[in-house]
Amino acid sequence: VELLPFNTLDIAARARSFVSVRTVDQLRHLLQHDAARSDNLLVLGGGSNILFAGDYDGLVLHMAIKGKRVIGETEEHVWLETGGGENWHRTVRYAVDQGWGGIENLSLIPGTVGAAPIQNIGAYGVELADVFEELEAVEINSAEIHSFDKEQCRFGYRDSIFKGVLKGQYVISKVVLKLDKQPRPNTSYGALQSALDQRDIEHPTIRDISDIVIDIRNSKLPDPDTLGNAGSFFKNPVIDNEKFDRLKASYPGMPGYPIDDQTTKVPAGWLIEETGWKGKVVGNTGTYRQQALVIVNHGGATADEILDLARKIQQTVGEQFDIDLVPEVNIIG
Ligand code: EPU
Repeated sequence: VELLPFNTLDIAARARSFVSVRTVDQLRHLLQHDAARSDNLLVLGGGSNILFAGDYDGLVLHMAIKGKRVIGETEEHVWLETGGGENWHRTVRYAVDQGWGGIENLSLIPGTVGAAPIQNIGAYGVELADVFEELEAVEINSAEIHSFDKEQCRFGYRDSIFKGVLKGQYVISKVVLKLDKQPRPNTSYGALQSALDQRDIEHPTIRDISDIVIDIRNSKLPDPDTLGNAGSFFKNPVIDNEKFDRLKASYPGMPGYPIDDQTTKVPAGWLIEETGWKGKVVGNTGTYRQQALVIVNHGGATADEILDLARKIQQTVGEQFDIDLVPEVNIIG
């Protein structure tokens, strides 16, 4: 099966086999068969954070479990259960339409609801963990349904237990979010607050926030439908304050966001721009002209071309700043 339509980086790779699952029962049924369970299984949501480094010698399981329902409600909160195969952004807009706050800052993030907890998606001052209640996942080995609360998910920056010790062991079938019926918009992210100031919006609604986040993202991030990409290619590195201070002395313009007493997060986009890679075109690939952290496919790029570029960027940033950039995108194979 050709995977080109199933990955936003537009890599032409093939999967040995492919199945789309629409219900939890279908998924469990599939996993009860030895052939599927013991195959090399890859769960695919929107394919928006993945780089196929070659053909996939195994079974690609396309997550298409849909459905939204409210499973609990108080004066202040509503618990929204959503199928893992639902589109994330449509879920955000649905919540905004209902007046339920908490995920408006996460507008326009590509991908599915089921993929969101795996890398704890985050943007504009909010991350999934902030609104997460629990999830239901099917264990691949046993086809049993297990639930995980927030603590069990061990969320971190672009991280969770599903990228760590439980990697490849579960398929996330449902996610429950705890949303606010009396929303308190989060405008802590600098670029978001400036956009609000520019528009003279003093008391933004969640719809204002969602609309502005959409505008900012549209201005900085390429639309995967027109230009192949998988969002940020690398994570923002976290470095020791000592090293940060040392670098800051040579590069006074270097931005940094304190994480704790010892460490600071540095925008990888800035490092890449500083080394001269921003907007560079290399064969069919390159970095995006508005956001150096995004590697794009100008058309027909191969995985090798993209990986070559990524390695060159890592090398230049390593040489100039002594900082290791770690991919944020999942490289398969
Ligand atoms: N910057 C540059 N040049 C660039 C890009 C960025 O100098 O080409 C500097 C600027 O100082 C800018 C700062 O980096 O103020 C931060 O840039 P931006 O607001 O675009 O955010 P980011 O740190 O590059 C992160 C996430 C994005 C998320 C945005 C907004 C990671 C790896 N990326 O990017 O997530 O949308 O913040 O919250 O944490 C993704 O994960 O795929 C993704 C797009």
